[in-house]
Amino acid sequence: MNTPLPEGFLWGAATAAYQIEGAVDVDGRLPSIWDDFCRVPGAIDGGDTGDVVCDHYRRWPEDIALMRELNLEAYRFSVAWPRVIPTGRGAVNAKGLDFYDRLVDALLEAGIRPFATLYHWDLPSVLQDKGGWPERDTAYAFAEYAEVVARRLGDRVQDWTTLNEPLCSAWIGHLEGRFAPGERDITRAVHASHHLLLAHGLGMQAVRANAEKPARLGIVLNPSGIAPATDRPEDVAAAKRMDGHVNRWWMDPTNGRGYPADMVEVYGVEPPVHGGDLELIGAPVDYHGVNFYFRQFIVDDPEGPAPYARQVPVEGAKTTSMGWEVYAQGLTDVILRFSQEYGARSIYVTESGSAWNDTVAPDGSVHDPERTAYLEDHLEAVARAIAEGAPVDGYFAWSLLDNFEWANGLDKRFGLVRVDFETQQRTVKTSGRRYAELIAQHRATRGGSSA
Ligand code: IFM
Repeated sequence: MNTPLPEGFLWGAATAAYQIEGAVDVDGRLPSIWDDFCRVPGAIDGGDTGDVVCDHYRRWPEDIALMRELNLEAYRFSVAWPRVIPTGRGAVNAKGLDFYDRLVDALLEAGIRPFATLYHWDLPSVLQDKGGWPERDTAYAFAEYAEVVARRLGDRVQDWTTLNEPLCSAWIGHLEGRFAPGERDITRAVHASHHLLLAHGLGMQAVRANAEKPARLGIVLNPSGIAPATDRPEDVAAAKRMDGHVNRWWMDPTNGRGYPADMVEVYGVEPPVHGGDLELIGAPVDYHGVNFYFRQFIVDDPEGPAPYARQVPVEGAKTTSMGWEVYAQGLTDVILRFSQEYGARSIYVTESGSAWNDTVAPDGSVHDPERTAYLEDHLEAVARAIAEGAPVDGYFAWSLLDNFEWANGLDKRFGLVRVDFETQQRTVKTSGRRYAELIAQHRATRGGSSA
């Protein structure tokens, strides 16, 4: 890295419950919409599921030891709602909560700061049966769940995220049908988007009111830099719609600006806003979580689903095994947008990482130069944003472990640590070692103090 990062910069890695925990029917957990979606023929590549994945529910002590080996200062994980309140509302499952309680204690003991995400896409199936996110009641159920978790963990956890990437839950889950619950309906998608954001607002209130330690709260969005693929007026207009769909629909209301009127027109559906909702949704956050993976070049697509615009590949671009363009400057750009256009005072890069077709050498090692270069280039991109005045307080590599990559199943590996899903053997990849080294170097520049 050429550009230094500030002294207080926090180094972490992230995961999510359904992607690593496994143990889906253990200790009282009931199914989530992802357990159900995995059973839909053809929904997930290879017919994979989250049933076992990294078996983190049982192997978490080993995983915390790996975090220490990587010199991590912070760990971003998600709490599984279907473990804590398996029926979505009502009875709390003590064993489910105990798991996160032990995890937090062990993290703190290891000197690792826990960042807890309350919702990373695993809605309890019972709530889906009652209508899911398109129903307003789901937001109230979320607030009750947030209260339960905050009461239990809020004496030790300071950093909370309400939702991870609500765009994916609303648009990919309810409009494109590629994610759980697999719907394709613009009205239900818009309603889901509003109730997710309402859940964010109510969840912030619930955590603030019930956590013993003063809570730092945020929402994690996944913005993309958007540009028209050509200068045809139709493509320019399509890019504006895509920007509304991917970025402004989420950034505007969570920053107190309400929903973008042009997009309400594009969707032809009014979000079901009640009095007071926008104030709740727009209540100030303590930090903005930014997940960044790719930028998008857009063409007009009148036949496609809303927003009638489509991403096209960038000719000659280097792409990851997800087919996503590698473009680190895009991270600088989205950070600067949060800071310059929305006045963000604290930003964490809550996810940044890449999937590659890793190979295991005969001696068991995994040499992943592409992931290593990606990591270094994206950290450099963060440093550039900071140099331009953006208040970035930390970076979480996605992901600590190879895991279940949703509709792409188990083949797309994002981990700094390889997981053999058959034997559960963990192997720190070269990228993980490099990350540990960068953290150690940064620590040395601040005189050896830890976070
Ligand atoms: O694996 C996902 C994660 O769950 C949410 N953000 C994007 C990652 C890579 O697709």
